[in-house]
Amino acid sequence: MAIERTFSMIKPDATKRNLTGAITKVFEENGLRVVASKRVWMAKRDAEAFYAEHKERPFFGELVEFMCSGPTVVQVLEGENAVLKNREIMGATNPEKADEGTIRKTFALSMGENSVHGSDAPETAAREIAFWFSETEIVG
Ligand code: TYD
Ligand code: MG
Repeated sequence: MAIERTFSMIKPDATKRNLTGAITKVFEENGLRVVASKRVWMAKRDAEAFYAEHKERPFFGELVEFMCSGPTVVQVLEGENAVLKNREIMGATNPEKADEGTIRKTFALSMGENSVHGSDAPETAAREIAFWFSETEIVG
């Protein structure tokens, strides 16, 4: 398996509880390398554009409001099979359904306040990385 990149976000519920380091440590312990990272307080238009695929869903308004409620850490993670590996490390969207040892099982508060985002496919990862980072900000 070739080295791959995925896009990650540490969401406002986690940054507010000072969990940026604890969550990043889980990535690193699982062989994912942080090759880009910055802290952003999302504007509403950015949250709406980033999550545009969900704009018809009933939870869209709440999702956008939550993502703009505090700082987020946007990251590019690199490693073998990074997209799938990160989805496994994160656990299920609903923390009650997430496996033991996953980030969401350990840290998430609810389905909405679920601590992390991770790209769901390599094509999504490319689009999401380009949304937040220029090439010069990514240092492998
Ligand atoms: P989704 O892409 O389905 O989940 P994931 O983050 O695991 O890829 O949904 C995006 C976010 O929207 C999710 O992390 C939390 C929020 N959300 C809700 O608040 N309620 C819901 O019913 C769903 C499906 C998602
Ligand atoms: Mg998703």
